[in-house]
Order: sequence, then C-alpha cells, then structure tokens
Amino acid sequence: MTLHRITLKCGADLQGFRRAVRWLIAEELAPQHVVFAIDDAPSLFGNEQTGDAPAVTIPKGVAQLIEHVVCHCDPERYALLYGLVWRALNGERDLLEVASDPLVHRIDMMARSVRRDLHKMHAFVRFRRMKGEEVERFAAWFEPEHFILAAAAPFFVDRFRSLDWTILTPLGSIHWNREALSFGLPARREDAPDEDSFEEGWRGYYESVFNPARVNPTAMRAEMPKKYWRNMPETAAIPGLIQTASQRVERMIEQEASMPAKRTPERALEAMFDQDPKSLEELNAIIAKAGPLVPGATQAVFGEGPLHADIMFVGEQPGDQEDLQGRPFVGPAGKLLTKAMGEAGIVREQAYLTNAVKHFKFDQRGHRRIHAKPTAGEVKHYRPWLMKELELVKPKLVVALGATAVLALSGKATPITRSRGRARFGDYEGYITVHPSYLLRLPDEATKREAYEAFLTDLRRIRDLAQADPETGELPLAAE
Ligand code: URA
Repeated sequence: MTLHRITLKCGADLQGFRRAVRWLIAEELAPQHVVFAIDDAPSLFGNEQTGDAPAVTIPKGVAQLIEHVVCHCDPERYALLYGLVWRALNGERDLLEVASDPLVHRIDMMARSVRRDLHKMHAFVRFRRMKGEEVERFAAWFEPEHFILAAAAPFFVDRFRSLDWTILTPLGSIHWNREALSFGLPARREDAPDEDSFEEGWRGYYESVFNPARVNPTAMRAEMPKKYWRNMPETAAIPGLIQTASQRVERMIEQEASMPAKRTPERALEAMFDQDPKSLEELNAIIAKAGPLVPGATQAVFGEGPLHADIMFVGEQPGDQEDLQGRPFVGPAGKLLTKAMGEAGIVREQAYLTNAVKHFKFDQRGHRRIHAKPTAGEVKHYRPWLMKELELVKPKLVVALGATAVLALSGKATPITRSRGRARFGDYEGYITVHPSYLLRLPDEATKREAYEAFLTDLRRIRDLAQADPETGELPLAAE
C-alpha cells in the first residue's frame, strides 16, 4: 500500500489543510493511504504545494469543526479531520448527528477545548504599557493551550483598534500597528513588560466587582486557572478577598436590611451612599460596581490626581481613548488640555482631573466609536458621585470644562458664552471655560488660534486664582 505524506505548517494550518483535502479527494485517496506530518520548525513562510485541485463541498457543520480543530495542539488533528471529511463525502453526510460515534465525539471534544482556550485568551489577556518607547505601545503575555493566535486576533483588533499592541506567547506573537496585523515568532515571558501604572486600577476594579457571597474557589480556579493569574494584576487581590469573604458577607447581610424596597436608579444610588464612601478608592469601587448606565463602555474612568489638589478640572465624559486606557483626558482633547496647562504654568500631575459622567457613551459606525453626548438624565445619575468626589478631593478651585460640567456642578443648564469666567459651585470657588474638544472642532486655523489664546488666558487666571490667599482672596502679584 502506497502511503502519501502531506506536510503541513506547524500551528493551525487551515489553508494548507484545505488545499490538501481538495487534492486528496480529487485523487480519491482514503484516510488509510495518507499520513499527515507537521513541519515542527515554526516558519513564517508558505507550505509546500499540494497542487491546485477543484473545490470540495462538505457539510457546513464539518467545515465549522475544521476551523476550530485545526487549532488544537494534538498532532493527530489533521488525520482525524480528514477521516471525518472522507466519511461525510462517502455516504455518511449526517455523521455529526451521531454524537456517540467515537470519531465525532473526539473531534467535538477537541473543538470545545479550542473554544474554551479562545474564550480564556479573550478574557485574560492584560496589556501593559511598554517602558522606554517613544510611541505608546502595549504588550501582553499569554500562554494558550492550542494554536489559536490567528483565530483570537480579530477580537483584539476590534477592541483595541486605535492602540499599537503586541501579544507575546510561547507559540508565536501577534502585532497590530493600528493598520495591519502581523504574526511573528514565539517569545519568552521575559520579553513582556512586568508591571505598569494601570495595575492598581485593575486590582481596584476586581475588588469592587468581586461578590463575596458567591465565593467558590473550586469554580473560580476552573474558570480562571491559576496559570493565568500571574499575568493578571487583579488576581493579586484574590487570596485576601477569599479570606475576608465571610466577614464581608455578614456586612452585606446587615446592609441589606436597610436597602430600600424599590430599586429605581436613584434609590440604588441612595443605597450606595448609605455606605458613605470615606475615600476615593471606596467611591470608585461603588462606581465600578454600578457599571455603565448605557451599555458599551469598557470600564469606568475615574478621576486622577492628588487628594487636596489646588485645582480640580471637570470634563464631560471619557472618550474612546480614555475608555480603553482607563484614564481621564488621554485622548486628543486631553492632549490639548495638557499642552495648554503646561503653557499656562499648571502642572498636570499636581491637578485633579475628572469627568461629570464616568463611562464612555458612543455610537458605533463601522469600526469607529463616535462620542455621543450624555443626556441631562445621565448627568444627573452621576452627579452624587461627582459631588462626593469634590468633597473628598477638596480643591481650592473647581474648573468646569464645557456645558456638561457646568450642568453637573451647578445642577443648571447654562450656556458657556454667558457664564464663562469666575463662578461659585456650592461651597466651592469655581471657574467656567470651554471644553478643549470645542477647540479641536473649530473649522479654520485663525479661529482655532484665537480660541486657543482665550483658553490660555482662562487657564492663567485659573492658575492665579488657585494661588490666591484663602483668607483674603488676594491674588499673587502677577495676576490681573
Ligand atoms: N473629554 C472629556 O470630557 N473627558 C475626557 O476624559 C476626555 C475627553
């Protein structure tokens, strides 16, 4: 008996396998006449040709199984799949309906295992900012069980389209440069960055969404196997959370008694304020737990900056970049604000920056997420949190950037043109100016320059007001 040897590329060689199947079927070669070999050297180049054979029509269910099972790490995967194809084309078209068939069962289990691996990769990859790079780049380390990189990549492109990122794995790497996807060679764990400034945010978020009443360590380990933990900053919190779970449940039960019976959003807010957050961390945990009012946002974007900063800037809501990075004012409007602050002598790191609304709201147009203005009702929903934030930060001066921030801080809708300049927000000295995104939207260069100069004038006044003597209100010598 002559054996035909088919060599396929290492990894998930879907194209190579399809080509091989077309050729084998055209040559009428039954599975017992074929051996499949895998070229073990990871190669970026094409497979040897099996010739151009005519297309083969196979049942849809078989074609779907092939797409997943070629990703499986079992070296026998291609032989098993070819056995399935052969039978489907030779009198057993409906063989997938016989779940007890040993081949069908085995292939089905393999497909499930690949789908589980894909799900874990989508859920557990954590990007970290790469240090020392001029252009902002992110990298993640992940250890898949199967050859799922090509199958997993579209999810990350969709989600992180506007960032440069790399996912490194022992089976190969994926790179996205905001335009094109490419696949590279395997990597080592040391090639990925270890820790970055987002870690604390992830940990805080996980702590806030962790429900102590539902602790089941066995189920947790099954869902999130320990091997993924070291790549996921939030998992550092797990042992402590499990240890304190029973105390937290007792506290929850006590609090439950005082919960209002009717759970309208406002009642829910009041209930949360029964907890009376004593720190920004506690407040942020409540916001994260409440989740977005309108679905879609990746995460809540909290305020950023020192407690008791002299100046607190309040914007509208996080944009696309802020939503992805989990930080306020890091997108185009944020970059313009940071530049203008620098020119006006305000150090960004010494100010506190936040938003009236803490979640990104957008309209999806193709691959783009277009900012959608929050409604007055949404601003009202987030208002108690903003007020609490203000109380905790206790700035000398609160700056409203744009009309949404004015509405959130004052409770009243007021046009900026009429209210621009010094203001009072409850107990706080305030200042109203335009939102930096307004400057970006202006149509011509001359108008833009003029508006930017006016914005700088506001920021210089803001700087001086924040330095005014709290007792006398006297401004520093250079002011006005
Ligand atoms: N616009 C805002 O109002 N806030 C941000 O954080 C970014 C853009």
